[in-house]
Amino acid sequence: TWTMVNIVDEQVERIRAQIGQGRAICGLSGGVDSAVAAALVQRAIGDQLTCVFVDHGLLRKGEAEQVERDFVAATGVDLHVVDAEKRFLDALAGVTDPEEKRKIIGREFIRVFEAAEAEVLGAAAEDGEKVAFLVQGTLYPDVVESGGGAGTSNIKSHHNVGGLPDDLEFELVEPLRTLFKDEVRLVGEQLGLPAEIVWRHPFPGPGLGIRIIGEVTRERLDLLREADAIAREELTKAGLDRDIWQFPVVLLADVRSVGVQGDGRTYGHPVVLRPVTSEDAMTADWARLPYDVLEQISTRITNEVAEVNRVTLDITSKPPGTIEWE
Ligand code: XMP
Repeated sequence: TWTMVNIVDEQVERIRAQIGQGRAICGLSGGVDSAVAAALVQRAIGDQLTCVFVDHGLLRKGEAEQVERDFVAATGVDLHVVDAEKRFLDALAGVTDPEEKRKIIGREFIRVFEAAEAEVLGAAAEDGEKVAFLVQGTLYPDVVESGGGAGTSNIKSHHNVGGLPDDLEFELVEPLRTLFKDEVRLVGEQLGLPAEIVWRHPFPGPGLGIRIIGEVTRERLDLLREADAIAREELTKAGLDRDIWQFPVVLLADVRSVGVQGDGRTYGHPVVLRPVTSEDAMTADWARLPYDVLEQISTRITNEVAEVNRVTLDITSKPPGTIEWE
């Protein structure tokens, strides 16, 4: 619509005015907010922007490809990919406590991102630039929640990573600060981003790491990725993507139960389907998915994912449950 065209044009002008000839960096998470923010800034300043994508190996099936291939094809963005799967899995080895997992993933993420940042912005500093711009996909509800609202903030680098001089200042660029989620999606469509990115359900930063109950290993991740892909595929096929808020699939990796598949007894793992409806994730209700959709998901997962012999449905609201299991 014309209003979205206006928002795009207006933001492009603002971004150009703010950044000038400077250098900008943006971390991509695979989610809609960072993708739209990056696409807007790319439209404004082209190759002065570099995007950094840390692949921590905890993404869902096809998500890394969507960023590395489809997002780049749609925007022409200069993308710097860091394949950090081994590093994250090594750090997570033997860890089962949910909070510990989150801390480790958060810590490793910052380290990897800052190293990439130093590499990218080192060039700017060598050119004698004093300010580097950090693009963030902050939305209006985030601004209100944090009590902000006044202009852009300057953050002096806590970013004291090797390769960056102390006096290089970071200035935030937040082109989505006045927008709500549905408006961000419209801007994303306006910018020609793929529907899979624009309409993606929220996905937690720690990724599948907090959807495996028990230790996170490569084998378990692959298993969960298969089951999760089937659930998403069937939801899309049923035309229900936009009716629900989120659809986590959880692997109970330390639980086994007896089953019978083909001509033999099995002793496999259960997965939990956790489809929810919600307005803002603060509260949620379990989604009443049609039985035939649930049946199709169950049949396909137990047929196609050999190690899984039971599919269960989580019928807990939030509260008392949270959306994620960890
Ligand atoms: P819970 O499980 O607390 O989740 O009901 C509420 C919403 O937040 C998402 N979530 C996260 N998002 N980093 C994120 O970016 C995180 O560490 C994280 N933990 C939970 C969750 O998917 C749901 O949308």
